[in-house]
Amino acid sequence: MLGRAVFAGVVLALSQMIVAFDHYAYAQDAANGEKVFKRTCTSCHYTPDADKNWVGPSLHGVFNRHSASYPYLAYSGAMKKLDLIWNDESLERFLKSPEIMVPGTKMTFTGISAPKERLDLIAYLKANSQ
Ligand code: HEC
Repeated sequence: MLGRAVFAGVVLALSQMIVAFDHYAYAQDAANGEKVFKRTCTSCHYTPDADKNWVGPSLHGVFNRHSASYPYLAYSGAMKKLDLIWNDESLERFLKSPEIMVPGTKMTFTGISAPKERLDLIAYLKANSQ
């Protein structure tokens, strides 16, 4: 009896730790996202406050923007065909692995493997899209 109660207590404590860890791991941090952006994206994109293209299209207002809808003449055929809205879910998939989500994209970037960095980056793009 006692053994079972202790076991249940341990399971409960562990599950609460996992919930707490999840919460910690997935709290979005736009300030960290800006750092990630400056480290990994600015070789090809201006920061999202800039309404102009660089190697890649401007990311001005990219959150909730339709894919391949900025006046940028170099979109790939693959990106033009994509036909979606850039939101939490689509940016998450794209930034994880551009080439897997959009085979043939001209964004020659392997992707961001750390989930927390992707989330922070998306928070930053979102905060700069209003
Ligand atoms: C090596 C250059 C390069 C890097 C690095 C790069 N991009 Fe791109 N990005 C591009 C190009 C080029 C395109 C256009 C892709 C196409 O048309 O297939 C693009 C397209 C995009 C789009 C789609 C925009 C639209 O108008 O539909 C998003 C969103 C995006 N990039 C975000 C990012 C973010 C965030 C980072 C940093 C993690 C990043 N990119 C890093 C070159 C780059």
